[in-house]
Order: sequence, then structure tokens, then C-alpha cells
Amino acid sequence: MYFQDIGFINNFKAHSLLTVISVILIFTSASSYGEPPIIEYGDRFHPVVGGRGMVVSQEILASQTGAAILAAGGNAVDAAVATGFALAVTLPQAGNLGGGGFMLVYLASENKTIAIDYREVAPLAAVRDLFLDKNGEVDKNKARFSYLSAGVPGTVAGLIHAQQNYGSLSLADVLAPAIKLAEQGIRVSYPLAYSLNRAQQRLIKWPASRKYYFGPDGTPLQAGSLWRQADLASTLKALAKEGRDAFYQGRVAELIIADMNQNGGLITRQDLADYRVIEREALVGTYRGYDIAAMPPPSSGGVHLLQMLNILEGWKLTELGHNSAEYIHRLIETMRRAYADRSKYLGDPDFYPVPVADLIDKSYGTRLREGINLDHATPSSDIAPGLNLPEESPQTTHFSVWDNAGNVVSNTYTINFSYGSGIAVEGAGFLLNNEMDDFSAKSGVPNAYGLLGGQANAIEPKKRPLSSMTPVIVFKGGEPVFTTGSPGGSTIITTVLQTVLNVVDFEMNIAEAAAAARIHHQWLPDTVFIETGISLDTQRLLVEKGHDLQKSRRVIGRTQTISSDGEYTYGANDYRWPGGAAIAEPSR
Ligand code: DON
Repeated sequence: MYFQDIGFINNFKAHSLLTVISVILIFTSASSYGEPPIIEYGDRFHPVVGGRGMVVSQEILASQTGAAILAAGGNAVDAAVATGFALAVTLPQAGNLGGGGFMLVYLASENKTIAIDYREVAPLAAVRDLFLDKNGEVDKNKARFSYLSAGVPGTVAGLIHAQQNYGSLSLADVLAPAIKLAEQGIRVSYPLAYSLNRAQQRLIKWPASRKYYFGPDGTPLQAGSLWRQADLASTLKALAKEGRDAFYQGRVAELIIADMNQNGGLITRQDLADYRVIEREALVGTYRGYDIAAMPPPSSGGVHLLQMLNILEGWKLTELGHNSAEYIHRLIETMRRAYADRSKYLGDPDFYPVPVADLIDKSYGTRLREGINLDHATPSSDIAPGLNLPEESPQTTHFSVWDNAGNVVSNTYTINFSYGSGIAVEGAGFLLNNEMDDFSAKSGVPNAYGLLGGQANAIEPKKRPLSSMTPVIVFKGGEPVFTTGSPGGSTIITTVLQTVLNVVDFEMNIAEAAAAARIHHQWLPDTVFIETGISLDTQRLLVEKGHDLQKSRRVIGRTQTISSDGEYTYGANDYRWPGGAAIAEPSR
């Protein structure tokens, strides 16, 4: 089955043996006991080096929480769940109880990767044209900043599911640090103060948000001030006592329903009671001798990561040079084709027959590669009209955990925008997502990330909106060698792609892989977004090939990566946002 038919032949099948050999050396040469960790003197960026336990997240208190759980004897899942709950307290713009996400868990003892889907679902009362006004136009305000924009949250169910099935401590143990952070308070960090300041207008109009995130006079929380979240602490305590039922049937459910009823929201008692976590089979693909485990739909991340790697595998990328014009041209053309497919074929697999196997088939990758003109850009307008990217500031967050036994967790979760819908649940202390905007509100009209969709991702009751979140775990010879993931809306998939390429093809350590400049293309708009660091010479060559380049208004992605050589772990928090940290498990 072919999805695109672009005919130009350039099919290199050769592998770069050198690359493969040297990457094997990177990941195995320190594996015998007592040898020191690998620190390359020539590298400009270095990961944090630790023993076998490591936590990397976008907020330092949350990373410390996870690392402390590892030190207390918890496994990677315990630490990940504790980190997830801690982020809900310390990183309110993205850490959450009111959103959803995806978690990959590699269980070393079973040599098995589990894919946990805790994505939000559309309420039962949601209809296809929910966000269309009387003229049939998409009402963006309704889709993004109203009670209608919230899908039924999955985070609490997802984290508790992971903990109860794969953790080793009690739920109360992994919730305790988050409860403490909420109850005793944290000192507001500069990044949090800055971000609240930026979001002030959007948040302050909702009484509960105003109460939780601003002083009595409406000024945002100040850096350095002590911030206690009593209502959030009560919610977390209820979870510790009653488990997920507290949220989906008990006290918290009542608070959500009261808020929905008062404000015209759609989420009902039944919606909450019906919420289910789904364990799916992880998608697995190969790239130059590595095995890549990723998330299947309703995330588009895994499918398109593997599809793009299949296309790129046929070229000797190393020889082209990292971020050379020839390399970037191949990346752009690859991304363009994958995102075109995304708009048509991807959606919730329980509602739409997503042709996953065909999309990640190597022969389809070859076919797409053969259609790429190496001299010129293929205009996306040959396929569909161009569109614009959003103004809104997005926020999602990824964290990675590795434990002493070699278990690995790769988790991305989100409330979609920074602070989600901006609406906090009165009395419950957390923000509601605006994930309903990830659906295609109307065919041909882009969502907040400029992404298009059609029937596959149309709104239907109980359907999960299509996501781009791309947690991955990469294996070599059956052993996990690194894990990564990123926020960034539509740029998540291309960020993870470039991270994998930087490590596998260009032999970068994970800190260098994170620091390297990124580019992004998503078919429409037909624009290549570039970060600082792509040279003017390179840009000129790309323009000569027919590409439209634009300096990205914000950074592209923000990875949280861990690698391991079997003896040590290496953690790299992306420096594209201040305040994150890779924290090694303190020695026991
Ligand atoms: O699931 C998705 O693809 C989006 N809701 C993710 C949003 C996001 O990454 C915002 N981040 N920076």
C-alpha cells in the first residue's frame, strides 16, 4: 500500500559500518566493573554521570524527588510516578493531574516494553462540530480556552495504573513527596515566576486560577516567595488514601462535575467513571542495527518517527556532515512526507483504521525516499494549501528514569498549552487541559500547532485526540542504550528524530545531541523552521534548493534523555528551558 506517489530514484542502501562500530564502543566499552565512565575530552557538552539510577525532568525538585525514590529502593516506575506527581506541584504549566499522556516502561527482568496510553478522551456529549460557530467556522477560543476544551483527564489513572502494576512501593509512598511539596510549599523559582507573568492575562480571569497562581491583588507569584497549594495537597492526599477512585468517582470527581455544571462543561460523572487506561503494544522498528520502541496511536509520534527513520536509513547521513545543507535537505523532505501522511491517516485506532504497519514498512520508506529530489525542494503546495503556525505558547513535559536493575521509563504528559485551558478546578487545585484542540475541529482548518486532520481525527464521543508525543526507548543487542522524549507540539516528533540521528549517525553523547541546533518542517505550512546555529552559508544553500526558511520564534523541542553503558547512566536535561535537571540516584 502506498500513501504518496512521488517518483524520483535515489536509493542508497549502504550502512555506515564505522558509525555502527563506534556507537557500539560508546555504549559498551565501560561495561566491565570498575572501569570509569566515558567522558570524552573533545566533547563540548557533557551529560551528568551517575551510577545505575538517573532521573531527568524539566524541574529540579521533581528530578530530586524521583532520585530520592530510587535511593529509597523504589524502581524506575515508582520514581517516574513520584516525579510525575511532583511535577504536578512544581511545574503547573505542564506537570499535571488534569491532563494525559503516554508512558513507555521497559521491564528488564522480562525484557519487555509496555506502552501505557493515558491520553484524555472526548466526553460522551462531544460532537463532531463542537467548536464550529453558526457560520461553520472554528471558534478557537471555545476549542482552546473554555470548559469545552477539556478532555476527560487521564493522568491520575495512568500514573496510578503504572505504579500499581509495575511499581514496587505503595501508592502512598510515591505520592508522599508531592503532598509534602504542595502542603509545605516550594519557593517559587525564577522560571515559574516568569512563566506565570506571561500567562497572567489568560489565567487571571478564572476565579480558581486567580486564587491558586496569583497574590490577593492579582500579581503573579514572586520568585523566592513560599507557595503552598493546600487544595492540591488535599487532592493528592485523597489519591493516597482512596486511589484512582478519589479522582474518578469520589471527592475530586464531585469538584470537577460541580465546576463543569456551573460553567457549561461537558464532562459528566459517567465520563469520569468510564475513564480507562489502555495498555497497547509498543511500536518497534529498527534503525541501523538499533531497535526503537515507541508509542503507537493515538500518538502519531512513534509511527512517524519510525517512518522517517526508514526513509533516512537509505542515505549515508554521516558522510553528509551534521546540519550540512545536504543533510538538512534530506531531513526536510523526509519530514514533509511524514507529516502529509499524518494529516490523513492518523487518529485514535479504536475509532479509525490507522494503517500503522503500512506506514512503518521499510519498503514504504524506500518508496518515499526514491521520490525525493536531492537537488530541489518538493513544494508542499503540490499536495495542499499552506497554513500558519500558532501564536500560543505551548507546554508539555517529558521525563526519563533509569534504575539500578536496568528498568527504564520514558514519559511525556501534557495539558496541551502552557497551563492548559487556563482553568483550574475550584477546590481541587489543578488545571484542566485543553486537549480537545488536538482534534481536527474542521477538515482543512489547522489546530494550534498548524496541524491538519480529517475524518481520522474528527471529534467523536470517547475518542482520544491525536497526539505528537514521542517517548522512545532505543535498544542495541537487546539492551536499552538510551531513552528520550520532548515537549513541543508538532515539533516533538522531529525533535526526537534529530536526537536519535545525532546519537546514532553522528555519535554525539546525549548532551551534545540535545544542544545541537534543530530544524522542523511539518508539510504545512511549507516553511522550514530553524533554530539559532544553522550557519548562513547553509541557509543560503537551502534557499537555493527552493526551501523557505524561517527563524523559529521559540526553541524546537526540549529533550530529557538518559543513556547507559550498562555500568553507568548519563543524564541530559535540555538547556532550552531553565530549571530542569538530571539527578543521579544518590548512592545507597
Ligand atoms: O499531544 C500533543 O501532541 C500536544 N497536546 C502536545 C502539546 C505540547 O507538546 C505543548 N508543548 N510544548
